[in-house]
Amino acid sequence: MKQLNRTQNEQNLVHSAITQIRKQYQNEQTEEVPKEIMENKYFTEYEQLNELELLTNKHIKYCTKKLLNIGYSIFYLDVGQPWCIYWPLNALSILQDDVSKYENQIIQYLEKCKIGGFTGGPNQFEHLAPTYSSLLSLFILSTPAALGLIDRQALEKFFWSVQDPTEKGSYLMHVNGEADIRAVYIVVIMVVILKLDPKLLDGCAEYIASCQTYEGGIGGVRYSEAHGGYTFCGYAALVCMKKADYIDQEKLMNWLVNRQMENEGGFNGRTNKVVDACYSFWQGAIFKLLIQSGYVDEQLMNVFELKNYIHMCQNASGGIFDKPSKSPDAYHTCYGLSGYSLADSNFQNPIYNIPNKCIEFVQNFFQ
Ligand code: FPP
Ligand code: ZN
Repeated sequence: MKQLNRTQNEQNLVHSAITQIRKQYQNEQTEEVPKEIMENKYFTEYEQLNELELLTNKHIKYCTKKLLNIGYSIFYLDVGQPWCIYWPLNALSILQDDVSKYENQIIQYLEKCKIGGFTGGPNQFEHLAPTYSSLLSLFILSTPAALGLIDRQALEKFFWSVQDPTEKGSYLMHVNGEADIRAVYIVVIMVVILKLDPKLLDGCAEYIASCQTYEGGIGGVRYSEAHGGYTFCGYAALVCMKKADYIDQEKLMNWLVNRQMENEGGFNGRTNKVVDACYSFWQGAIFKLLIQSGYVDEQLMNVFELKNYIHMCQNASGGIFDKPSKSPDAYHTCYGLSGYSLADSNFQNPIYNIPNKCIEFVQNFFQ
């Protein structure tokens, strides 16, 4: 008999657990939960909520606790510290909390991480990932003091220093570091909004296009598997440069619509993989970008089902997790809520994943 591989097994378990969880919310409780479901950790480790609705106040409480909470594990995660600002701060702003009360504390902390680009923590080297999360946090604050921390000349110098010496239009995450589409995305969107040297964009669209795979999504590097995170980065960078047509958008759309899982309602990141709440943003934003690029004129995802999946991924006392049985964390809370917001409102910007009103402020500030 054919044996199922690990992913197929996991997929079946998640599938049946979600089916059972849904039934319970719909009060379709069968007299007895089948034995195999009672042994399914995705079901047994799920704490049911009173109602399937967004627990706004609980999430605000959760994110407030997470903001700037540089705990032991994150302290040693080299490039991680500014993420502890961006993830909870972005979530709080989506939840309409007043984030101005954190301004001084955030500026003081990021000052310690600034060179030209930003570092993963005080006394480290510049790296594109914390540069991205630090700049987005300053954009969210949208005040002259926050934006005044950005040294555009020094930032431009950092971007030149991470050009990939082997490939035009590609960038390294840090000097002598790895090259992938995340780096191209970060450089492109920051060059555009901060009005830096447009020569930094030379070859980027061609490089991104060369990473589109036979499936239609985009891989992290050329010849690698199409993945939601990298597809978001590549396509968002193209839309930002108004060069969406450098890739085959028909193929992209076909790949994308197959990422929303029929039973779970959420997205997976790649073919034959398991649903995960963070793809509500990485994949969900691409639907919005297809509209923004003018390629389609309607929302092609099932918004109701996506929101329902995110509802099911809420921890009863706040925070969002990847899938039932997992614990909540700031990353999934940020991207779950970002996907939720993008799916049915125009509050968030799908390229930058910060509020549209902040994009306007930043664009006007840097003339
Ligand atoms: C999991 O891969 C990877 C993620 C959930 C992150 C994906 C996001 C990005 C690559 C974009 C990051 C962007 C920036 C700007 C830093 P996996 O192989 O463990 O999970 P899978 O089984 O769901 O594919
Ligand atoms: Zn995830």
